[in-house]
Amino acid sequence: MKKFYVTTPIYYLNSVPHIGHAYTTLAADIINRYKKQKGEESYFLTGTDEHGANIEKSATNAGVTPQQWTDNMFAKFKEMWTDLDIKYDDIIRTTEPRHEAVVQAIFEKLLKTGDIYKGSYTGKYCMSCEAYLDESELVDGKCPIHKKEPQVISEETYFFKLSAYQDKLLKFYQDNPDFLSPKFRAAEIVNFVKGGLKDLSVSRTKVKWGVTVPSAPNHTIYVWFDALINYISAIGYGKKLGIPGYENYPHDMDNYWPADIHLIGKEIFRFHAVIWPAVLMALGLPLPKKVFAHGWWTVEGEKMSKSLGNFIDPRDITAKYGVEPLRYFIFREVPFGGDGDFSIEQFKKRFNSDLANDLGNLLSRVLNMAAKNIGTIPETFESESTLLKEAQRINAEYDKQMEELAFDKALDLAWGLIGKMNRYIDETKPWALAKTDLEKAKNILLELIFALRYVAAWIAPFMPNTSAEISKRLAAGEIQKYAPLFPRIEEVKK
Ligand code: ME8
Ligand code: MG
Repeated sequence: MKKFYVTTPIYYLNSVPHIGHAYTTLAADIINRYKKQKGEESYFLTGTDEHGANIEKSATNAGVTPQQWTDNMFAKFKEMWTDLDIKYDDIIRTTEPRHEAVVQAIFEKLLKTGDIYKGSYTGKYCMSCEAYLDESELVDGKCPIHKKEPQVISEETYFFKLSAYQDKLLKFYQDNPDFLSPKFRAAEIVNFVKGGLKDLSVSRTKVKWGVTVPSAPNHTIYVWFDALINYISAIGYGKKLGIPGYENYPHDMDNYWPADIHLIGKEIFRFHAVIWPAVLMALGLPLPKKVFAHGWWTVEGEKMSKSLGNFIDPRDITAKYGVEPLRYFIFREVPFGGDGDFSIEQFKKRFNSDLANDLGNLLSRVLNMAAKNIGTIPETFESESTLLKEAQRINAEYDKQMEELAFDKALDLAWGLIGKMNRYIDETKPWALAKTDLEKAKNILLELIFALRYVAAWIAPFMPNTSAEISKRLAAGEIQKYAPLFPRIEEVKK
């Protein structure tokens, strides 16, 4: 059976993981958890991009071998995923033999079909992008992303016939309007492809730390060509190709491919929306259903950079305030797809208002009143409750927003109901009502308890432990006394 298949970029191992990497990987975790919660089979792949000149350089500077460097850095990424409660199904490293052999087989296959051919190339190469840049892409002669002047490089190289796929790509975008996501980023890609595609240099003679071209061992395979293939090497393309040694590979590609969503940041949209689909077309494979390019996080208004030294390690925040408030914050704060700014004061404000007050206090109030007036939560509750009807209506809306990756809207819906519940308590005053009409007060409290269960389910992909804790407290049976879910953060600026 075909599973829902979601991927993240595989991250370069030349710098330590920060909140930007965490963002994409958390988004994939949230999607994966959401799908699994709905009873769908879902599969979540992440990984690390370990070859290329930049990794070689980092290792040399540190006085270690590239393999030692990548082993050490890989451990750091993996540790961060564990710390953030990210539950991927597989994590692939491009230095693993299971990946390298597939890259080599694909290269040789495309040499045979003529999609890869030998030539020579002179161009301006940005060392940080690991890509040749077109004159038209340069800003003041510099790479627009890294603000560095590219180097002029000339080399014998193999090319991938990207130019042959221009019309096929344009037709594909037209026939599959959900492929380029979010929609407001589609025009950038369509215009780029309409502007004309040049063949792409896909091998290097100057880079040693890479996958060797089997039929020309003085060439290594371009790191981007190598990296993109992770999405199919991990799920069994080697087995599908019949590469010896893959007979017992634990996955059959047809159960996963085509991917449902490649999640990426906006700066690598072209690689995923132009080059990758063309390679897949050359291989005769179906294309992913969606490439979703989200925006960039800045920190306190500044771009994160080495020179500013302002990389946020999510653990700086989670060590103090917990993992789940951060998981909540970054998806509530900014519409998924756009850019966002991380501000610690804004985080603390939302912590106090959304989590401590709106949700945490609601739960405490309801359970304290219920403990006094009901004592035991029943298995079922039948009522013509307006509140519960509203919860049901929101439930359908929530699913729609989650399917569209509108995480902020899905969470807004949850907090919309939370707000309604708090107002309902203020208006009906169940604590006072209990003295005059106990049955009516009990009924209101049960409505609130059963509506809170919806909230617990909605927040589960974002805050799985909080959700489980709320569900436990609201479970049928005798009501217990509990500590507050989210004690307020006191040091908040006004
Ligand atoms: O590009 N805001 O790896 P990379 C939001 N190896 N997201 C951010 C971010 C920020 N400030 N900084 C990083 C590569 N990201 C290649 C990918 S895939 C076949 C190869 C996230 O380590 C975002 O997902 O530079 C971005 O696309 C990715 O990290 C880049 O990671
Ligand atoms: Mg990058």
